Amino acid sequence: MFQQLPRLEADPILGMLAAYRADPRPHKIDLGVGVYQDELGRTPIMRAVNDAERHLLVTETSKTYLGIAGDPSFNERLLGLLLGTDDRVSAEGRVRGLQTTGGCGALRIGAEVIRRARPEATVWVSAPTWANHVPLIGGSGLRLAEYPYYDPRTHGVDFDAMMGALAEVGAGDVVLLHGCCHNPTGADLSLDQWREVTALALANGFTPYVDIAYQGLADGVDEDVAGVRHLLAAVPEAVIATSCSKNFGLYRERVGAVYFLTATAAQAEAVQTQAMAAARQIWSMPPAHGAAVVAHILGDATLRSDWLEELADVRGRINAMRVLLAERLAGNAAGIDFDFIRRQKGMFSYFGITPDQVQRLREEYAVYMMESTRINLAGVTPANIDALAAAVHAVLGRGA
Ligand SMILES: Cc1ncc(COP(=O)(O)O)c(C=O)c1O
Repeated sequence: MFQQLPRLEADPILGMLAAYRADPRPHKIDLGVGVYQDELGRTPIMRAVNDAERHLLVTETSKTYLGIAGDPSFNERLLGLLLGTDDRVSAEGRVRGLQTTGGCGALRIGAEVIRRARPEATVWVSAPTWANHVPLIGGSGLRLAEYPYYDPRTHGVDFDAMMGALAEVGAGDVVLLHGCCHNPTGADLSLDQWREVTALALANGFTPYVDIAYQGLADGVDEDVAGVRHLLAAVPEAVIATSCSKNFGLYRERVGAVYFLTATAAQAEAVQTQAMAAARQIWSMPPAHGAAVVAHILGDATLRSDWLEELADVRGRINAMRVLLAERLAGNAAGIDFDFIRRQKGMFSYFGITPDQVQRLREEYAVYMMESTRINLAGVTPANIDALAAAVHAVLGRGA
């Protein structure tokens, strides 16, 4: 059976992680990490999560299966967090969803349902996009294509090129949009640009597929989804994949949800049955614990406000590191204007140096980043900023 299966190469991220772990230099700096870290390099359990877990320990009375759709109060409260108080679409019964195994599970079930509806659909993804979008969505059998997105010269969105490409995408095709905190570039659409994308979706009839994995990590839980809310209030149909891995720090509990916005309430109900059938084929029932934690936090005024407060601290730390790094890299010998780091959103930015410089940072200074130059700002701390800035200045000072 298995003799003919070759060994696969390690994922580049895992390869980098292994090299970082094996590096004996005590001053090593990890900018490649994919999760939030505090100033001490820890990925903490949030206070509200701890409190909710204690509550569950004494109140939970059974470990029997959840239904295929998961915990209804989780599904409803997470949707409420996404859509906010002025939420016409769910009042009309046009949104239905189900609890998934993290944002990855949500992305996959979204893709499976799109394939059930229209196997010939192409899903357009930004260039670049999060690397896992390709196997998660492509693994369902759907075709993927890229639209231009990031402009390395401006370190922002090449909006004209993006809109030019999307102008050719019509009804029956799908456009994947990062709701906020674009991974890997940190370059987000402005609210005006979301308005233009919305108008184009309405004019051309393509279906937006929003991946929102970082709500609350840029400017605030409401601010970060202003564009998404505008879009969802206007379009007849959309797919939304959400994750609680980052904003609740629940990575390993695998908590997320996928929602389908449809033209009528009856269609939403029908689509939900398809999504449940797709989930049945893959994991059958979702895990309970993480979703129960989130449902409890969102439903309890005290825990909710404590969670919002801690999330504000998380985003405050990331944004402070953005400012600090941009400041400390000013005046570098290569004349690179790193101020874009301050303008970008979420945990990641493309650092934009050459592959040779990435290599030298790693070999000579024990500074690790992805080959794409994606850096995680949560890897920067007040304790390592001096060494980091000195290393970057030294490498840039010696030319490309
Ligand atoms: C853009 C994006 N979407 C979705 C996810 C899904 O994450 P998870 O499955 O861990 O919830 C991630 C996680 O890194 C992400 O960066």
